Amino acid sequence: MKTTIDQVSKHVGEEVTIGVWLANKRSSGKIAFLQLRDGTGFFQGVVVKAEVSEETFQIAKNLTQETSLYVTGVVAEDARSPFGYELQVKNIEVIHEAVDYPITPKEHGTEFLMDHRHLWLRSKRQHAIMKIRNEIIRSTYNYFNDNGYVKIDPPILTGSAAEGTTELFHTQYFEEEAYLSQSGQLYMEAAAMAFGKVFSFGPTFRAEKSKTRRHLIEFWMIEPEMAFMDHEDSLVVQEQYVSHIVQSVLKNCKLELNTLGRDVEKLEKIQAPFPRITYDQAIELLKKNGFDDVEWGEDFGAPHETAIAQSFDKPVFITHYPAEIKAFYMKPDPDRPEVVLCADLIAPEGYGEMIGGSQRIDDLELMEQRYKDHNLTGDAYQWYLELRKYGSVPHSGFGLGLERTVAWISGVEHVRETIPFPRLLNRLYP
Ligand code: 4AD
Ligand code: MG
Repeated sequence: MKTTIDQVSKHVGEEVTIGVWLANKRSSGKIAFLQLRDGTGFFQGVVVKAEVSEETFQIAKNLTQETSLYVTGVVAEDARSPFGYELQVKNIEVIHEAVDYPITPKEHGTEFLMDHRHLWLRSKRQHAIMKIRNEIIRSTYNYFNDNGYVKIDPPILTGSAAEGTTELFHTQYFEEEAYLSQSGQLYMEAAAMAFGKVFSFGPTFRAEKSKTRRHLIEFWMIEPEMAFMDHEDSLVVQEQYVSHIVQSVLKNCKLELNTLGRDVEKLEKIQAPFPRITYDQAIELLKKNGFDDVEWGEDFGAPHETAIAQSFDKPVFITHYPAEIKAFYMKPDPDRPEVVLCADLIAPEGYGEMIGGSQRIDDLELMEQRYKDHNLTGDAYQWYLELRKYGSVPHSGFGLGLERTVAWISGVEHVRETIPFPRLLNRLYP
């Protein structure tokens, strides 16, 4: 019977056939251990010389890495492996022999692996990271669907910039100039006025000249937007949502977390509520931790965020940033208009800002003033103003960067490993 590795637990003691690739191999004169993978998982096939034909044993001994084959054998429990099962091989049918596969089991440099990303994806480590990414996406859809949100897809080709104009990718749109979206937010605000609670999930593009472990040129964002919800309400959604995805990964990706050597105790603590500190308190905290020259009004960099995160064992919200260093659409605090009703959620363990969000300006006049301050003119933004003209309501939203979230939950150092084909400052291939 044909099956897949993720289904073998249902076939203990039975003979099965699985289409696989050879990931690795160890053999002696009497036995060969084949590390097999089929996309659904990894497990071991054992070929005992005394139990197979001479021809089958010779084939097994000579198999090269990444050769594709059909392997037939009996499924057995194997208490020694984390996977728990192995295959007692009876027969092997080679489909295609791979010669000189470039990624050998020895160590390779990052640039070499990145050049071979199309093949590197087959490795056990990359497989584990992509499965965790998939679980985060799956649990994101579950969370928002279960809580009354409608999935809305904002456009990718746009005329209006949400997050400032310096980092835009420009493209020709027939006679007009267009940009690749850096955030779907402005469209999600329109959608919230039509559907109440909405969320999007899509690619975003930023021509940022940053070469850090947290920056991609193309990354994926989850952007919920909620009508009739203020800044505080939004923080509650954020901490519940983030707790939900972490707990889903813990539950459904045990094997993958184990493959990556992730310290799951740290993740088990990630339950709502999360601590909240204001920007002012963050400045104090930084001064106490040796950042003597940090001044009110400055934005935080990676070292600042890491230092703040070290004081907490959960993600921490930094709220009420100075209006000057934040986006034009954020609502000023009515009690203190020099700061805005916003929060960045900083991940633990140095993974940096994972979410940026805010309550939005809902007053037409104030928004018009902001347009003047930021030189936002032309038709591109007129429609956005109209949202404040017809039944404007308090509303809030946020954007969660998928790759930084995958990096944190997986315990992977650099975001380049958290997306199948990363676009980086110096990399457009493969
Ligand atoms: O803080 P940002 O710029 O917020 C927005 O774009 C808002 N319009 C979202 C909203 O309110 N709907 O970006 C949100 C998140 C960041 O916290 C970070 O996780 C991620 O997107 N991000 C990046 N991830 C990887 N590479 C980059 N270059 C990123 N820039 C932002
Ligand atoms: Mg931000």
